[in-house]
Amino acid sequence: MKINKKPNIITDTNVNVNNLQNSQRKENIKDLNQKIKNNKNFFSRKFFKDLGIVESVGDGIINILGLQKAANGEMVEICTNKKNQKGLILNLGPKWVSAVALSSDSEIKPGQFVFLTHELMSIPVGDDLLGRVVNPLGEPIDDKGNINTKAKNLLEARAPSIIVRSPVNTSLETGIKVVDSLVPIGHGQRELIIGDSKTGKTSIALDTILNQRGKDTICIYVAIGQKRSSVARIAKLLNDKNCMDYSIIVAATASDSASLQYIAPYSGCAMGEYFMEKGLRVLVIYDDLSKHAVSYRQLSLLLRRPPGREGFPGDVFYLHSRLLERAANLAKSEGSITALPVIETIQGDVSAYIPTNVISITDGQIFLESELFTRGIRPAVSPGLSVSRVGSAAQNKVIKKMAGSLKLELAQFREVEDFTKLGFVLDDVTKRLVDRGEKLTRLLVQNRSEPIDIAEQTIFLYAALNGFLDEIPLNMVNIYEKELYKFIKKTIFYEPLKIVLRDNLEIDIINFLLNQFKIFFLLNIDIFNKNI
Ligand SMILES: Nc1ncnc2c1ncn2[C@@H]1O[C@H](COP(=O)(O)OP(=O)(O)O)[C@@H](O)[C@H]1O
Ligand SMILES: [Mg+2]
Repeated sequence: MKINKKPNIITDTNVNVNNLQNSQRKENIKDLNQKIKNNKNFFSRKFFKDLGIVESVGDGIINILGLQKAANGEMVEICTNKKNQKGLILNLGPKWVSAVALSSDSEIKPGQFVFLTHELMSIPVGDDLLGRVVNPLGEPIDDKGNINTKAKNLLEARAPSIIVRSPVNTSLETGIKVVDSLVPIGHGQRELIIGDSKTGKTSIALDTILNQRGKDTICIYVAIGQKRSSVARIAKLLNDKNCMDYSIIVAATASDSASLQYIAPYSGCAMGEYFMEKGLRVLVIYDDLSKHAVSYRQLSLLLRRPPGREGFPGDVFYLHSRLLERAANLAKSEGSITALPVIETIQGDVSAYIPTNVISITDGQIFLESELFTRGIRPAVSPGLSVSRVGSAAQNKVIKKMAGSLKLELAQFREVEDFTKLGFVLDDVTKRLVDRGEKLTRLLVQNRSEPIDIAEQTIFLYAALNGFLDEIPLNMVNIYEKELYKFIKKTIFYEPLKIVLRDNLEIDIINFLLNQFKIFFLLNIDIFNKNI
């Protein structure tokens, strides 16, 4: 049998250069002459070792001949006919090295010269980025003008060592009742937000940013592979709520190249590291890492790396582990990076490749269920499947005490909930359990973009767990909550309580307030009822 073997065109650099079209070569020589005239030190660049030639280009992948000294992750400069373009080396082969173009590859043609920069890829960082929407290269994509920052951080930095870390010890308040009580997050933690599409993942992440107002936490939102319109909407929301002064949005949208989407989370992390090293607390949201993995799969396949499970390359675990390892709580300063990666599942399948990887890398997950979402229980956090492994060490002590009984009652309710659906006649004890459970479930419902202060959360939880809601009908629970917040804000106790409730549950004052409010609420219940 005759094997139809493809001729190997690229056996020798010279052959290939000779193959280049004459016009192209002339152009390149002209370009080179110009370069030499402009730059007297041109030859000091160890000229020949650092010079390569584009062999072929397509889908953002550039194969380069002659760069024997190239390093993985090194930047190269490609001399196109217009502006020089940047590439990132990702593959070192025996015959050629491959780089990915970091912007459009339409100007890059075979035969063009490529220079090694002897620099690992780094991106601009600094205070000037606050309030801006940038691409993963740190270039502005909003209309607020140039960013003048000189500092740069390595895109792929080494994660802080064990010695310089301290255990998670300060709580990061999200302002979301169900998260702060059941799956508390601490500064320096990595908590995954996982769920199907349109279950409120992004909303939880954004509410957390909104709640950091006045709390000295820098927030970096990295959008990967989302629609431009979604990113615009997010930027508008943060702007309208006055949250941009402590936030940065790093966006590689679905219309950007796979290489930009691939570097986006590392870029966001590098920007965060600048603030962490200055002793500030940073929250980084990667929305979402499923799309990040897909962009890496695309690059890997184009680089001809062998595909493995679900088509992903073998090092896809390392892709996310090296990113999330960079989240840390530093021991010497207050500096920390908290990571909230987002993963989108398909039909609730958490056992797919990427979800299992990221679940095993993070310190817990907030699991969102579409079934709860459609039933109107939003945020649709599943209390049974969500966990936070290190956050409870940092949780507000008062909430922590109450969260135990809340979890227990919710679990008991879940056990008997199915009976109610089947229409069985229930005994009195079970009826009470179901009534309480339904109220507790309703109590955790919260509108998006309305984070609640931890003191208010404490008082409301206390009311629910100590029978103050027993006389309130189920459909009035949320009205009760709203009116309660209004009521306590008007009293003189509110400001002192905000401070005291961080450490101690002042039962006497809270009971007094709740009893007063009960009288007020029951007197006016008809008026509230009409407003439903
Ligand atoms: N707590 C909430 N209450 C009411 N609606 C919500 C809540 N959270 C999210 N939503 C709605 O659900 C939809 C999807 O939310 P989004 O956060 O974009 O989901 P995902 O990021 O999971 O795709 C949005 O239209 C949003 O308004
Ligand atoms: Mg989303």
